[in-house]
Amino acid sequence: MEPIMEIIINGKAYPVEVPGDTPLLWFIREEVGLFGTRFGCGQALCGACTIHVGGVPRRACVLPVRDVLGQEVTTIEGLSGQDGELHPVQQAWIEQNVPQCGYCQSGQIMSAVALLKAQPNPTDDQIDAAMSGNLCRCGTYPRIRKAIKLAAQNAQPPKPEAAEPATTKEEVKP
Ligand code: FES
Ligand code: FES
Repeated sequence: MEPIMEIIINGKAYPVEVPGDTPLLWFIREEVGLFGTRFGCGQALCGACTIHVGGVPRRACVLPVRDVLGQEVTTIEGLSGQDGELHPVQQAWIEQNVPQCGYCQSGQIMSAVALLKAQPNPTDDQIDAAMSGNLCRCGTYPRIRKAIKLAAQNAQPPKPEAAEPATTKEEVKP
């Protein structure tokens, strides 16, 4: 059987014509032309390059393309719906005015999306643990936490309407 020599990025297959040890981050940026995923440290230390592989957050700067052949990769560009509708986490980010310089934020959002998928109603400790690998030089951590809580809250099913109080006999008397 022919080896699979493509990577599926945001639902579209891209042929891999670079050496197998090329970091996925360079493939995404230079070959595919998606620039939302950022280069920070290049050593899996800052989280700026976070993408999902099979729904799991990974650091694209240290992930060779040979390790993701045939797999589904999602980048920040793949979060919004087909009609351009923002992902609920992106929406919460906007509502909480999270970004400052913005450099780290695509990685932050990708980690937050993975967290909420695994834990729809995370505690502060769970948020801190899941987000600890995503650094922000601008210190937007409090707003990130608020936005994650808002996205979690918005995803909860609406509470059932309180039942109308039953009418008493006294109330219907003329
Ligand atoms: S650029 Fe990948 S973790 Fe920093
Ligand atoms: S918003 Fe500037 S580094 Fe995070």
